[in-house]
Amino acid sequence: KRVAILISGGGSNMVTLVNSMTGDHPARPCLVLSNVPAAGGLAKAEALGISTAIVDHRNFTGDRAGFEAALNEVLEAHSPDIICLAGFMRILTEGFTGHWAGRCLNIHPSLLPKYKGLHTHQRAIEAGDAEAGCSVHEVTAELDGGPVLGQVRVPVLPGDDAASLAARVLAEEHKLYPAVLRRYAEGNRTPLYLP
Ligand code: GRF
Repeated sequence: KRVAILISGGGSNMVTLVNSMTGDHPARPCLVLSNVPAAGGLAKAEALGISTAIVDHRNFTGDRAGFEAALNEVLEAHSPDIICLAGFMRILTEGFTGHWAGRCLNIHPSLLPKYKGLHTHQRAIEAGDAEAGCSVHEVTAELDGGPVLGQVRVPVLPGDDAASLAARVLAEEHKLYPAVLRRYAEGNRTPLYLP
């Protein structure tokens, strides 16, 4: 299986996904694509020997369909079987999600269906939640709304702020995403709940 990974920033999830696809793993990375030309993850991907590409959403202001058509064109040129969104910060419409239906995953830093959207850690803290976490889900036209394929729960600790909670959750994202991708690549859609 060929896996394309979409990023917008540092790409720590991308790095762990790439490093997981070795040996008898049924998938290999074929492309890292960023909407942000200066994304730190691009240099990391190049250092890992992965092809990279940029589709700058600022070239498509007010033209979401045009941006997604450009994404699809670059992606199709690398013939991916699976798309992984990893810290990708653009909302994708049916033009993209429909094209890749059943073949596209995302990691979101909350225990979905709670806290779809942004500022998930701050919202959990402000709600006084005892637990937070991350979810891998199939991407549909509904933002952060597709079927959940895996989750990890972490405690919210006294004195946590958004940054300390985000760091605790991110460490678990780096375990969950590779585990879910491997199962997905093997055709296993059974949700994985860790620990
Ligand atoms: C992090 O906030 C992570 O929780 C979310 O995307 C952001 C950047 O992650 N998935 P990455 O380091 O670019 O993978």
